[in-house]
Amino acid sequence: MLSARSASGNHVAMATTLVAAGFSEISATDPFPSDPGRYLVLRGGSIIAWATGHDTGPTTGFRMVGAHTDSPNLRVKPRPDVNSAGWNQLGVEVYGGALLNSWLDRDLGLAGRVVVRDGSATRTELFLDPRPLLRIPQLAIHLDGDIGEHGLLLNRQQHMSPVWSVGDAPSFAEYLADLVGTDTDEVLAWDAMTFDTNPACVAGLDGEFLVSGRIDNLLSCFVAVDSVIAAAGAPGPHVPMICLFDHEEVGSVSMTGAAGSLLESIVSRIGAALGGGPDERGRAAAASIVVSADGAHATHPNYVDRHEKDHRIAVNAGPVLKVNANQRYATDAGSAAEFRMACGDAEVPLQVFVNRTDLACGSTIGPLTSGRLGMSVVDAGCAQLAMHSAREMAGCADPEWFRDALTMFLSR
Ligand code: CO
Repeated sequence: MLSARSASGNHVAMATTLVAAGFSEISATDPFPSDPGRYLVLRGGSIIAWATGHDTGPTTGFRMVGAHTDSPNLRVKPRPDVNSAGWNQLGVEVYGGALLNSWLDRDLGLAGRVVVRDGSATRTELFLDPRPLLRIPQLAIHLDGDIGEHGLLLNRQQHMSPVWSVGDAPSFAEYLADLVGTDTDEVLAWDAMTFDTNPACVAGLDGEFLVSGRIDNLLSCFVAVDSVIAAAGAPGPHVPMICLFDHEEVGSVSMTGAAGSLLESIVSRIGAALGGGPDERGRAAAASIVVSADGAHATHPNYVDRHEKDHRIAVNAGPVLKVNANQRYATDAGSAAEFRMACGDAEVPLQVFVNRTDLACGSTIGPLTSGRLGMSVVDAGCAQLAMHSAREMAGCADPEWFRDALTMFLSR
């Protein structure tokens, strides 16, 4: 078991990578520096990082990549200790649009943060327990007579509570206290969530597939971090920046979500530190362009009819530009052309996705970012199957292509 101190969340792993590449963390409560440099702000599950140079001024536009750090999963309720028929279970809430069936019969670990009393103050500890602690066993077929007729029917409240022990067992608060090395009375609150303990792997006859939990959207976050590090080393005329938000899967309205004030506040504080006011801020926004990086649906071989027949999407065929006339994606002709130019210059193939016009289309942080900041946005991402499953799949060649395209985009 990892100790609480050595455990790290995904966003902490990304921040560590950025710090190793010369980005310095600024606390959101401190003034922003006016000196050129590489900077990073961490708030909750969100990260924003950017690099300024000697030529950067308050009207310099931004080249941004936006993505989200969260994924659908199961989150532990505030009073989670339940017992049914002698089984000790944890009460969980479903976070986001999880494919519930994909969480059945998996070996689940727990991760998150716990806030404990520390004298007269509080202290936040991140934790990650990689042991297979929890399982949600599917009902045996012999006891589910309707399954042949109706398929598997799962109720979020009734059927998704994992089991984790039988007999006398510690409460969840006692378990957490033990994990982070404190007394149970000192445990004040937690954000705790499940994950599949099965590690990511390369799969397929020729190792052409990437299989993992949270491909939507940690794949984009990983690529964004790599790209901004590369772009900071070879800066163009704009400020290269990445914004990795929390809470996209639940609508983005939060302190650290794309529909909140976080990015707007950081962009205006960067401008103010460089000596600009509202006029300069507006000029910088008008000179900026954003890639909203998020997973794209590859055409599913078993459900070809669910896809637009003239916009087939394959894995290992390059990043996917996403277009929706109703602004579920923020792409327009101008932003699409910018991204196409960047792909061309980086010698990266590009595919184009539109949804069937008679089916509801998913969305991303793209329209929110565009609406909040008044910046031009293009939606793009890597093709994948099984979006929102506990275990998704993508192509092995695409992340590198996407990274090359984003690096070129951030450097232009
Ligand atoms: Co997503």
